[in-house]
Amino acid sequence: HDTKTPPYATSDKTSFAYISARDRWPVIITGAIDDVHRTIMASEDAEKTAEGKKILEDLVALKYELQHDRKLSPIRDDGQSDVVLYNNELEALGTPSWFNIPWLFSECYLYRRMSTSFSLSEHWKSYDVFARQKADTFRSSRPAVYELASHFKDLVPKLTAKPDDTGKTAAEHEEAQKLLFKEMCEICLWGNATDLSLLTSLSYEDIQKLQGAEARKASEKNILANDLQQAYETLKKARDAGQKERRVDIVLDNSGFELYVDLILASYLLTSNLATHVVLHPKSIPWFVSDVLPSDFASILSALASPARFFTPEDDEDAKPSVPLSNAEVTDISFVFSQLVQHHAEGQLLLRPNRFWTHGGSFWRLPSADKELYEDLKASELVIFKGDLNYRKLTGDAMWDPTTPFTEAIGPLGPGSGVNVMALRTCKADVVVGLAPGLDEELRAREGGGGDSGSRKWAWSGKYAVVSYSGGK
Ligand code: F6P
Ligand code: MG
Repeated sequence: HDTKTPPYATSDKTSFAYISARDRWPVIITGAIDDVHRTIMASEDAEKTAEGKKILEDLVALKYELQHDRKLSPIRDDGQSDVVLYNNELEALGTPSWFNIPWLFSECYLYRRMSTSFSLSEHWKSYDVFARQKADTFRSSRPAVYELASHFKDLVPKLTAKPDDTGKTAAEHEEAQKLLFKEMCEICLWGNATDLSLLTSLSYEDIQKLQGAEARKASEKNILANDLQQAYETLKKARDAGQKERRVDIVLDNSGFELYVDLILASYLLTSNLATHVVLHPKSIPWFVSDVLPSDFASILSALASPARFFTPEDDEDAKPSVPLSNAEVTDISFVFSQLVQHHAEGQLLLRPNRFWTHGGSFWRLPSADKELYEDLKASELVIFKGDLNYRKLTGDAMWDPTTPFTEAIGPLGPGSGVNVMALRTCKADVVVGLAPGLDEELRAREGGGGDSGSRKWAWSGKYAVVSYSGGK
């Protein structure tokens, strides 16, 4: 069920796969080692400490194997059904080594392998080795969190206004609604520019610059393909047809600021009645550093519930001294919280985890790998896939010609699948489709774009984005 187009592989020195395996993954494992070490130092439980030391040994061994290009060893059985899938795939690939393996599978394996060390323990079972990093980064997103909260608070009354109340003609009102949809989706799109697996090369200051409204305006020209109009028409059509239940699904990517903007999008869709339900799909194990776990959903709600306590912690010795929150900050962030709590309480905002999202393969396998999940997604009006990894999984992380239509590159989830798909993705990997002829060449020719090195460097940093839609019904 995979695409016949060959996937990107760590053996290709011109690809971001190679650079990831050589430079980024060791840094990520080292970060995990440091984190466990810190927790051990703070622990007074001897058994937990002993187990922690064992986990450290595992992580050190993993880093050694990676850096010495050893073969990938089977995932140890921690009772989950995906162990056999990972191990069968390793075997089918001929038990490859770290620098000669498809990028997508090996990167998924990396996180699955790390999680096994924790899941096989007694005291660290639900430990998220990236939690500290996620919370710190969300804290540093405070200016953008506030900016967006106050924008959203101003917006809500307009969302429920009838054309007569606004003094606009029906056509003007409709145009304004369309623009609003576009704006909310673009906020949600650029929220993806700042995932933590790329933090190896971005500072907190860089991140803050990427998050504000001004940055978003400046970045509009960097959206290389934009199908938002089609997604809007889909939702509007269902609403105008008087369909009672209209669901939007969001296959989540990163926690922190990105989850915050996803929740704002969800709240916007519900308030504007473009959807009656929003289903969020988190990951089941610590994944690509910053991806959302169910516990992150709980954490963000508690941060928004007590913004002063979260954004200006008194008991965190590492945090920089912070300016107390203004009344306006507290009011506006609390407003977002109250909206979310209301949607949640009314059963309109749901969280639905599934192990499929942390399998090692692409989404081309969805219809055969998990029929139930596939059927569930068919019941949705629109399934929004956030972020780079989800896009790589949709397209099989394959070496497509960049002018290949998105509808073709997503294979079994394309037209006829019964699933309406929209990808909101900032480009942080080589794969890209749906571009106009000549655009890739033009971007490569720009400064830092890769030139004639054979590398598609312009697509690695999150500066550019694609918004792609496929009508599956
Ligand atoms: O390209 C860097 C990278 O870490 C990829 O390995 C991965 O696909 C992606 O970024 C993660 O980004 P996102 O959080 O947007 O999926
Ligand atoms: Mg991510």
